[in-house]
Amino acid sequence: MADALLTRAVELLQAGRLVAFPTETVYGLGADAANPVAVGRIFQAKGRPPRHPVIVHLGSAAQLPQWAQRIPPAARQLAEAFWPGPLTLILPRAPGVPDAVTGGQETVGLRVPAHPVALALLQTFGGGIAAPSANRFGRISPTTADAVRAELGDAVDLVLDGGPCSVGIESTIVDCSGEIPALLRPGHIRQEQLEERLGIPIASPSGSSPRASGTLATHYAPLTPLLLVDRNTLLQRIKFTAGRDCGILAFAPPPPEFTEALWIIAPDAPADYARQLYGNLRRLDGSGCRLILVEIPPSAPPWTAVADRLARAAAGTGPEAP
Ligand code: TXA
Ligand code: MG
Repeated sequence: MADALLTRAVELLQAGRLVAFPTETVYGLGADAANPVAVGRIFQAKGRPPRHPVIVHLGSAAQLPQWAQRIPPAARQLAEAFWPGPLTLILPRAPGVPDAVTGGQETVGLRVPAHPVALALLQTFGGGIAAPSANRFGRISPTTADAVRAELGDAVDLVLDGGPCSVGIESTIVDCSGEIPALLRPGHIRQEQLEERLGIPIASPSGSSPRASGTLATHYAPLTPLLLVDRNTLLQRIKFTAGRDCGILAFAPPPPEFTEALWIIAPDAPADYARQLYGNLRRLDGSGCRLILVEIPPSAPPWTAVADRLARAAAGTGPEAP
């Protein structure tokens, strides 16, 4: 990243403006987390309803005490093990953390991302950067700078281009504000890795868990209707049309008769599948097809995060959603 661009980005953040930047998960739409007016601009640009909390990104775990009122031992262990990395910790907020960031809750989401551009920006800026994914509310998270520009256009003052994201889906979120750590959103770092590190089981989300917009049923969705189907159903569905009008994401190549369909062959390793997922959904959504058919991934634990995003994409699909 050229120094001049980094300087410009920091000046914009200091002036309360929006800077989109790459992380290892997805691109974030960043604003000075200590400036409620700047954070308000994020909501406007995304078309996101107010009072949804946003994650505060930090340049190092040493900044935690400025944002968290208390750092439970489990949170400390997870931060040591997985930061910088695709893990967000929900902690009791420190006094003075703006309501605009926490959505008025008594907790704050914190993460040190593992991307050289994000870390350079955070360390040069010095403060926390509030950043949700840099997409319109409810839509597919961007994993390239071009996707950010397509989503947000002039609503963002600067887009830092750090190339395609290596993880490709949003961070794992663990709520460490209660008695037992709880998984709020599955991600690249899996539940069993967290449990192995902590030496205790962690809870799944409960009704009393704090609100997390990435956990709404309809999220990460294309505009084109999307169905999750097994391979037989997929082949049945396109039998009479030779796949015309359909965009398909499947694990195997098409049978010879389906020459008309846009057919993307998905990688069969979960990390590769995740890295390409949002790019693939964008491509299918932009292809002009009337229906996106996605072959259901395996149900084994390494696929949990991908399955979660696909289920939400299917639920939130179509122009009226969310
Ligand atoms: O990988 C990621 O986490 C990306 C990159 C940019 O860091 N960010 C991201 O942000 O996915 P967003 O806003 O699209 O999703 C953040 C999630 C939301 O579900 C939000 O509600 C939740 O984190 N969250 C943030 N603060 C919270 C809090 N105090 N309590 C509960 N959930 C919180
Ligand atoms: Mg998001």
